[in-house]
Amino acid sequence: MRIAIIGTGYVGLVSGACFSDFGHDVVCVDKDMAKIAALERGVMPIFEPGLDRLVARNVEDGRLTFTTDLARAVDGAEAIFIAVGTPSRRGDGHADLSYVYSAAREIAGALTGRAVIVTKSTVPVGTGDEVERIVREAAPGVDTWVVSNPEFLREGAAIEDFKHPDRIVVGAEDERAAEAMREVYRPLYLNKAPLLVTTRRTAELTKYAANAFLATKITFINEIADLCEAVGADVQDVSRGIGLDRRIGSKFLHAGPGYGGSCFPKDTLALLKTAEDSQAPLRIVEAVVKVNDARKRAMGRKVIRALGDEPRGKTVALLGLTFKPNTDDMRAAPSISIVQALEDAGVNVRGYDPEGMEQARPLMPHVDLRDSPYDAATGADAVVIVTEWDVLRALDLRRIAASMATPVLIDLRNVYPPEEVTAAGLRWHGVGKPAPTGSP
Ligand SMILES: NC(=O)c1ccc[n+]([C@@H]2O[C@H](COP(=O)([O-])OP(=O)(O)OC[C@H]3O[C@@H](n4cnc5c(N)ncnc54)[C@H](O)[C@@H]3O)[C@@H](O)[C@H]2O)c1
Repeated sequence: MRIAIIGTGYVGLVSGACFSDFGHDVVCVDKDMAKIAALERGVMPIFEPGLDRLVARNVEDGRLTFTTDLARAVDGAEAIFIAVGTPSRRGDGHADLSYVYSAAREIAGALTGRAVIVTKSTVPVGTGDEVERIVREAAPGVDTWVVSNPEFLREGAAIEDFKHPDRIVVGAEDERAAEAMREVYRPLYLNKAPLLVTTRRTAELTKYAANAFLATKITFINEIADLCEAVGADVQDVSRGIGLDRRIGSKFLHAGPGYGGSCFPKDTLALLKTAEDSQAPLRIVEAVVKVNDARKRAMGRKVIRALGDEPRGKTVALLGLTFKPNTDDMRAAPSISIVQALEDAGVNVRGYDPEGMEQARPLMPHVDLRDSPYDAATGADAVVIVTEWDVLRALDLRRIAASMATPVLIDLRNVYPPEEVTAAGLRWHGVGKPAPTGSP
C-alpha cells in the first residue's frame, strides 16, 4: 500500500519505518526541514534503539522516503496518517489540536483520490468528527474516510511495541475504512495481534483511558511507597506481592519520582478537560494529576533533606535526566522539577545522561552537565539516581564514594540494594524502603 505519514517525530518516524518494513511504500513528511535533511543524510533526529538500522534498511530497499513536501506525499497515497504533536494548550490543559487541524487542511488541499485519513496522534473525543468536517469542506468531491488509530508504543521500546503490539485499535465509522486499516496492518494481523474495531469516538477515548489507567497505577504505588516509609515496610516487596496477582500485574508498579514524559502528563490533563466539558468528572484521575505534580517537587525536597541542615552551596549530581531510560526525550521529565527545587534552595546541580544531554541543556541551563557519572559525582555532596539507565545500574559505587565530598546516594528508582550501597561506604536513601540496619 502507499502510505503517507504527516509528522516525523517519535511516533511518525517509528510508524513509517515499521510500515515500510512490512513492505508498504511509505513517505514520511515533516515541516521541520532540518529533521528531514538529517534523515536524508541517514542521521536520526531522535534516539530510539534500533531505529537507525531499520530506517537505513528500508531507505536502501526504496520503500521509505522523507520529504517536506506534503502535497507530493499525499498524491496517490491510499492511507494518510496524521502523527503530529498534540501538546497541552498553554494555560488551560486542553490538548492543542492546532497541528492536527492544520495537517488535516493541508491534506485536504492535496488529496487527489480515494484515501483513508488516519489520526494516530492522541486526540480528544470528537477530534475525528472535526477532521472529517475539515476534509469534506475542503475536498468535497474526494472519497475519503477519517479513522482513529491511536498509538500505544513506548519510547525506548518503540519498534518492538509497534511490531508486536498487545492490540491495534481502529475507530472507523465505515466498514470499507476498517477494511483499509486491516490491509495496512495485515502483517501484524497475520501474527494474531488483536485488531479491535470500534467507533471513532470509542477509539479516541480508549487511548486516554489507557494512559490514565497506567498513570494511576504508577501514582498508586508511589503513594504506597510513602506509606511504606512511614510504617517501615518495603515497597518493592509490596509491588511483588500484589503484582504476582494476575488481576493486578507487575508492570507499572515501580515506585519512583513520579511519571513524566511526552504523554501521561498532557494526556491525563486533556482527559480531565474532556470529562469536565462532558460533565462526567473523573475524580480518580484528578487525584492522580495532583499527587504526581506534588511528588516531583517532593523528590527535590527529599534530596535537599539528605544534604543536612545547610544545603545552600552544596553540590548534587543527578544521574539520568530523561523521563525514562533508552530515550532522549526530556518532555516533562521529573528531573526538571528536581533541578528547580534544588536551585531554589541554593544547591549547585550537576547532571549526566547517556543520551539526553543535548535536549536537557536548554531546559536546565544552570546545570553543569558532565560527560560521565563519575565526573559528575567527583566532589559532590550527594548523587541522585533519577532515571534507571542500564549504565547507571552497574556503577562502581566504591569509586563514586571515594570521589565525593560527602558520600550520599539517593536512589529514586531503587536500583541498588541498600546493603550494597552502604557496604560501598555511601549513605543510602531510596524510595519506600527501610534503611538497612546499622547504616550511617
Ligand atoms: N511519543 C510517544 O511515545 C507517543 C506514544 C503514543 C502516542 N503519541 C502521540 O503521538 C503524537 C505525536 O507525538 P510525538 O512524540 O511523535 O511528537 P513529536 O513532537 O516528536 O513529532 C511531531 C512532528 O510533527 C511535525 N509536524 C507538526 N505539524 C506538521 C505538519 N502540518 N506537517 C508536517 N509535519 C508536522 C513536527 O515538526 C514534529 O516533527 C502526539 O499526539 C502524541 O501524544 C506519542
